[in-house]
Amino acid sequence: MNTLQQQITAAADFVQQRGIPSTSFGIILGTGLGALADVLEVIHSIPYSEIPNFPKPTVASHEGRLIYGRLEGKEMLVCQGRFHRYEAYNYFQITFPVRVLHALGVRQLLISNAAGAINPNYAKADLMVLKDHIFLQGGSPLAEAGVAELGPRFVDMSQPYDSEWRQQFSVLAKEQQQPLHQGVYASVVGPQLETAAEYRYLRTIGADAVGMSTVPEVIVALQLEIKILACAVLTDVCDPDQLAPIDIPDIFTQAKRGEECLLALLRTWLQRYYS
Ligand code: HPA
Repeated sequence: MNTLQQQITAAADFVQQRGIPSTSFGIILGTGLGALADVLEVIHSIPYSEIPNFPKPTVASHEGRLIYGRLEGKEMLVCQGRFHRYEAYNYFQITFPVRVLHALGVRQLLISNAAGAINPNYAKADLMVLKDHIFLQGGSPLAEAGVAELGPRFVDMSQPYDSEWRQQFSVLAKEQQQPLHQGVYASVVGPQLETAAEYRYLRTIGADAVGMSTVPEVIVALQLEIKILACAVLTDVCDPDQLAPIDIPDIFTQAKRGEECLLALLRTWLQRYYS
């Protein structure tokens, strides 16, 4: 059995052999930025299934791919499709794309997701830049066998999300008259939604939004000293006192609305701030 480092290196070597150069900017596209794939100028696209050691997709999940492309004239590596705990992947598998991106040169990472709004001042299809998080999935992506050899063990979490980037996105959102909150994201396993009592609990402990992803990737990115901006598209409003049954088609409709705004922000940010 290859060591974890050998697995990462094999994946990165394969990608490089396909002609993808070292790239410093990466994106992990969850629900919430799917529209990016339509406007990205694709230079190379590799299905995850071809990359050595990438986790195999479950029946339920879409085939993912790694894209090397250009947006607003800037080169980037985009992971289209992510792995969730609720699909029964372990944390090394969930965060494998982050480690491969790092091996390919990525030092700045944008992560998108869809989340439910806990904060009563938030509305459907609003965006929330993560300023902090509460990790409720149990365990840790840094507590898997062999992971301590891949970077520091006691990773600092005092400033997980880059404050300069958050500030820049705030400025742009104001200009574009787009509601953009800065809040705390609670990360749960799912895939069931929360009960009214659980939403009340999440509000009490200081969460502004809840979702089923992102934080494992963030923790590993911080172990690797990658700068992070993460943004949630708020697809439903979770009011424990008026909890309606979940409407999955509506969640996808709201995700589409929000992602157009996030894409507009990203494009302006790349033009103005990213060199
Ligand atoms: N809970 C958890 N994850 C979610 C939700 C939610 O209400 N909405 C979108 N992702």
